[in-house]
Amino acid sequence: MQEQLSSLIAKASREFQGVRSRPELEAAKARYVGPNGEFTSLMKRMGSVPKEERPALGKLVNESKARLQSLLDATLRAIEESELSARLGPPIDPTLPSPDMGPGTFHPMTLVREELCRILRKVGFTVADGPEVESEFFCFDALNTPADHPARDPQDTFYFPPAARFENVSKRRPGELYLLRTHTSSVQVRAMLKGPPPIRIVSPGRVYRRDTTDASHSANFHQIEGLYVDRNVTVRDLKALLDYLFAALLGPDTKTRFRPHYFAYTEPSFEVDLSARHLPKVNKEWIEIGGCGIVDPEVFKAVGYDPEVWTGYAFGMGIERLAMTLYGIDDIRVLYQNDLRLLRQFTSGI
Ligand code: DAH
Repeated sequence: MQEQLSSLIAKASREFQGVRSRPELEAAKARYVGPNGEFTSLMKRMGSVPKEERPALGKLVNESKARLQSLLDATLRAIEESELSARLGPPIDPTLPSPDMGPGTFHPMTLVREELCRILRKVGFTVADGPEVESEFFCFDALNTPADHPARDPQDTFYFPPAARFENVSKRRPGELYLLRTHTSSVQVRAMLKGPPPIRIVSPGRVYRRDTTDASHSANFHQIEGLYVDRNVTVRDLKALLDYLFAALLGPDTKTRFRPHYFAYTEPSFEVDLSARHLPKVNKEWIEIGGCGIVDPEVFKAVGYDPEVWTGYAFGMGIERLAMTLYGIDDIRVLYQNDLRLLRQFTSGI
């Protein structure tokens, strides 16, 4: 009997090592301690053992039973551990650098924005910032844009409800609404209200219009604004600056062209085209890139500058357009999708 018990334990111990799942464990358990199990049937034969041997054998049986139980427990723990590691997957050290990520690259929009700022800094411009939520004053009123101007139409501009409050932007008149700025020209007003001329600022940033998105429109896009205020500023200064800017950005063969236009805050006003035939990825002679002009005296009056003393020029243009021209991108939407297949193509640093 004693031998039978120890060989049973040895056999169980071997068998349990091959058990990998809960159903297998249940089956193994039944083979030993179930109603027809091998251990159970040994127990049943206890009755046939002579009386005097029973106490010693009873002790042995109890030990064997405990041993079997601890083998079963250990097998269950091993199964639980392998279930957990299957759920967790292969071991990883999250503090190690990712093996498949190179260093990041700059977004094409960032590359163009920084390049524009760098070129303009060289000729004395400083970079100014303004909020994307504006009041009507900064976006329209101070820029000589009357209340009935189509740019102010709620179909073109995102207005906030009258009850909306923004701590960082103050309203100037009763009934004025907050809005998402439709152009970066609002920063001109903010720059002039900060102090007296001379002023030479450039301000890149995000703007919003109620446009339906397609290959060339987005309700949210980026502009860069420039403002120069001093004595005796003329259209010649403006043209020279834009010639310099685009030649520096797109190559010395680039030409700029002014077409007369209307903007409420400049007089005269122009639309700016640049020649792009020499750019390998563009198949057009001229592309329209922005607006500009000589600051309207009404704007100076709105910020408290004497229009008899001060003159200035301003310009504004879309950064997406420039990035698309420069990199040969034909759909504005890919600029916002963060698709690494696109972004990886722009590996140059700033
Ligand atoms: N704000 C104009 C736009 O969004 C662009 C523009 C035109 C900016 C003339 C200017 C300017 O500073 O003088 O279309």
